[in-house]
Formats: sequence, C-alpha cells, structure tokens
Amino acid sequence: SRLALLLLCCISGALGRDLTIGGRAYIQSTSRWLPLYPVPRLPSVKEPSEPRNIHLSFGDTERDIVVTWSTVSKVSLPLARFRACSAPPHQPWQLATARSTKFVDGGPLKSAQWIHRAKLLNLSSGERYNYSVSSDGSVWYPVMEFRVPNVSQAQRSFAVFGDFGLANAQSLPRLLDDVTRQRMYDAIVHVGDFAYDMPDENGAVGDRFMQMLQPIASRVPYMTCVGNHEEKYNFSHYRNRFSMPGSSENFFYSVNIGPVHLVSISNEFYFFTNYGTAQLGRQYRWLDADLREANLNRTAAPWIVLIGHRPLYCSNNDSRDCDWGARTLRSGFNGHRWGLEPLIHKYGVDLAFWGHEHSYERTWPVHNGYLCSFIWHERVALNLLQLHAKCQLASSEAAQLKSIKPLQQLTSG
Ligand SMILES: *[C@@H]1O[C@H](CO)[C@@H](O)[C@H](O)[C@H]1NC(C)=O
Ligand SMILES: *[C@@H]1O[C@H](CO)[C@@H](O)[C@H](O)[C@H]1NC(C)=O
Ligand SMILES: *[C@@H]1O[C@H](CO)[C@@H](O)[C@H](O)[C@H]1NC(C)=O
Ligand SMILES: *[C@@H]1O[C@H](CO)[C@@H](O)[C@H](O)[C@H]1NC(C)=O
Ligand SMILES: *[C@@H]1O[C@H](CO)[C@@H](O)[C@H](O)[C@H]1NC(C)=O
Ligand SMILES: *[C@@H]1O[C@H](CO)[C@@H](O)[C@H](O)[C@H]1NC(C)=O
Ligand SMILES: [Fe+2]
Repeated sequence: SRLALLLLCCISGALGRDLTIGGRAYIQSTSRWLPLYPVPRLPSVKEPSEPRNIHLSFGDTERDIVVTWSTVSKVSLPLARFRACSAPPHQPWQLATARSTKFVDGGPLKSAQWIHRAKLLNLSSGERYNYSVSSDGSVWYPVMEFRVPNVSQAQRSFAVFGDFGLANAQSLPRLLDDVTRQRMYDAIVHVGDFAYDMPDENGAVGDRFMQMLQPIASRVPYMTCVGNHEEKYNFSHYRNRFSMPGSSENFFYSVNIGPVHLVSISNEFYFFTNYGTAQLGRQYRWLDADLREANLNRTAAPWIVLIGHRPLYCSNNDSRDCDWGARTLRSGFNGHRWGLEPLIHKYGVDLAFWGHEHSYERTWPVHNGYLCSFIWHERVALNLLQLHAKCQLASSEAAQLKSIKPLQQLTSG
C-alpha cells in the first residue's frame, strides 16, 4: 500500500506557560530565544462593528484567497480591499464585497455575531498583497499582508498540527516567528480540535481563540478539518467560523496547492451519528469521486494528502480510540459501510495526517492492519498491482508480521 501515516502530537502539551504582565496576557514559547507572544485583545464591546478574528483560507485554487472576519453587530458595508505590493502607489485598491451571515451560538445567552467572507479571486502568482477590511467602506482596519504561492514553482511548505487550544498555546511564538520573519509556510493545516472548546462560555472561548490566531492566520491561509471538540450544536462553530473551499460547510473539500492535492474530511461523522448519517454517505461518495479524479491528475499534482481528525491507526491504550474507533474509520460500520481504507488504498493516497491522539507516531506503509513494507517510497519502484500483492502477502503471513509493530511511537505525553 502507498499509505503512510503520521500522527500529530498535541502542540499545546505541558502545563503553565501563560503569563500576565501588567494586566496583559502573554504566551511563553518553549524556545527560550523567542519573544513572548502578546495575546491580541478583543475589540471592546462598545465598538460592536469593529472587525475581529480576521483570517485567510484558500478558495477553489491557491490563487483565490477568502478573507473571513467577524463583528458583534450587523454592519452596513462589509468590504475587503487589496492591492499587489508591486503595484505603483497611485494604483487604487481593488474592492471585494463580503457576504455576511448571522451566527448565533447555541448556549443559554444565544450570543450573536456576524461572519463576513470576502473572496479575492484570480490573484497574481508569487505576488505579495496588502489588504484590510472595513465595516462601512470608510474606516479601515490596519493593513495586513499575504503572499500568493508562485504557481510556476513545484514546492510548497506547510505547518501541520492538531489539537491546539486557547490555553497554553506554547507553539504560537514559534509559529509567528516562522510566519513573519522566516516566511516559511504557504499554508497552515490544523487537523481538528480548536480552542477547547469554541462553544464554551457562550462562544467567548471561540472568539478569543480566533483573535489569538489572527496575527498568524491573517498572513497565511489557515486550512482545517473538524474534530470532536467542535461537536456541540451540530458543529455550528466549525461551520460558521471557517471558510473552506467547496460546498459542504467546511466538512469535506479538496484544493490543489502546488504539487499537492489536499483532501480534508470529517472523521467525526462516523462517531456523532446522533446528527444523522446522510452526511456520511454524501462525504463518502464525494471522497470516492474526488480521489478518483485526483489520481488521474498525478502529472499536475503528484501528491495526494489526506487530513482528518481521528486516526485510522494509533497504538495508545485510550478508551477504544485506537482499536474500535480506528477500525470503524478503516473498515466502516459493520466492517463494510463507508470504510475509508479501501478508498485510500485504491487511489493511492500518499500521506495522511491525523490528530486527536496527544502523542507523535508515524507508521511504515500499512494496509488492513498489516505492515506492507519497510520502504517509504516503494510506490516509486513498484506499480500498484505489485504493491497490492505485497500487502496481501503480508496479510497472509500475519502471524509472523504481527510481531512487528507497524507503529513507531516516538514521544508520548
Ligand atoms: C503595503 O503595506 C505596507 C505596510 O503597511 C506599506 O509600507 C506599503 O506602502 C503598502 N504597499 C501598497 C502597495 O499598498
Ligand atoms: C485572471 O488574471 C489574468 C491576469 O493575471 C487574466 O489574464 C485572466 O483573464 C483573469 N481571469 C479571470 C477569470 O478573471
Ligand atoms: C516565480 O518563479 C519563477 C521560476 O522560479 C520565477 O521566474 C518568477 O520570477 C517567480 N515569480 C514571482 C512573482 O516571484
Ligand atoms: C447536522 O448537520 C448535517 C450536515 O452537516 C445535516 O445533514 C444534519 O441533518 C444535521 N443534523 C441535525 C440533527 O440537525
Ligand atoms: C490537476 O492539477 C492542477 C494543478 O494542481 C490543477 O490546476 C487542475 O485543476 C487539476 N485538474 C483536475 C481535473 O483536477
Ligand atoms: C489499557 O488500559 C486499561 C484501563 O486503563 C487497562 O486495564 C489495561 O490493562 C491496559 N492495557 C494495556 C495493554 O496496557
Ligand atoms: Fe480530538
């Protein structure tokens, strides 16, 4: 099998790294040479029309950027303006009108806010852009900047993590340094579980979390998948606060980023069946069609990368996640309904990232629970049929291979 898995570790691990100095909240990095990260303040409620929680994501292509932000009140004219940094200074800003939706939290206070989404389409390859947002077209938020990937270059750089909270977000100073000083990433990929939890305190935890992310996510597209901590109110915070491509309200989508066909799915649909299973069937059929098409487009986008929150393989001993849970995702309900592994295998997904387990693990190529190979890049040397035969051979030698743990646990905690 081509399947290689990486499990992401919780990056907000150990305790006690948040500081308050002179009434101001800071996050301290685990790296001693990095400065403290001042947690951005939320705009005061006296200014309910002030933009906050500004963040970016890719639209249908890597040359389309969606700017998403929020205001407490309904606003008269939500706009984004943008201008290429190489443009002459007298060139006027381009304007993009935002589409606004009201979002009401499900908690007792029924806190409302307005989410605004502006699409900046058909941007120039490799260009840096200045942009800002406004609630009325006359008062503008301070100018921010992003860079569009250079489509004629075949490399992209991603930061990938999951399970990232509001409290003790030790990795933020490092991420900010990577994003601002080093300009390291074309995208950030957060594989589920945000804030712990966005709906808490009538949604205030979600607002503070998004504000905390703003210095990073307003500079680099922040791509997501949904995790179990977003479950409340049928995942309403996840649906409303992010703007992923496609038409599934952020649950399943794909986008090509340079040589990578990035596919994001909801593994949570398999576990929160109290919200119904129709969405699971829809996602499965979509995934089948999406992977089939992507697998025919390998010349243009050779890498198929899948993200989802709960893992298909892990080796921790924790309330059935790594046995029953992982098996359900792999082989589906009753061992056959909507199982993901046959699709992953059939279309040769190259790399998959999962979160949820707060430990770092990676596997050799595996299939049906068995180790197939000790070579990561075997698909370069073998065709799909040969690989298939190898995994079946491995399966028939189960007794022998079972003694080799396909998972390497590197750290735990
Ligand atoms: C972009 O923003 C920077 C900093 O705010 C400013 O110095 C520069 O003149 C702006 N460029 C354009 C083309 O707007
Ligand atoms: C996109 O921009 C390019 C120039 O950068 C232009 O040639 C092309 O027509 C534009 N396409 C659309 C759909 O606006
Ligand atoms: C994009 O990359 C190509 C090839 O490396 C280079 O020639 C071109 O100048 C780059 N474009 C920009 C806008 O940086
Ligand atoms: C929850 O949301 C899904 C779409 O993601 C929808 O199909 C389903 O009907 C909703 N369930 C309930 C109980 O509202
Ligand atoms: C194939 O990949 C290229 C490059 O990422 C992309 O522009 C194009 O839309 C893809 N085509 C299909 C049919 O997926
Ligand atoms: C897994 O955890 C359970 C409950 O904590 C414990 O009873 C069991 O012995 C553990 N199994 C292994 C293999 O460590
Ligand atoms: Fe989780």
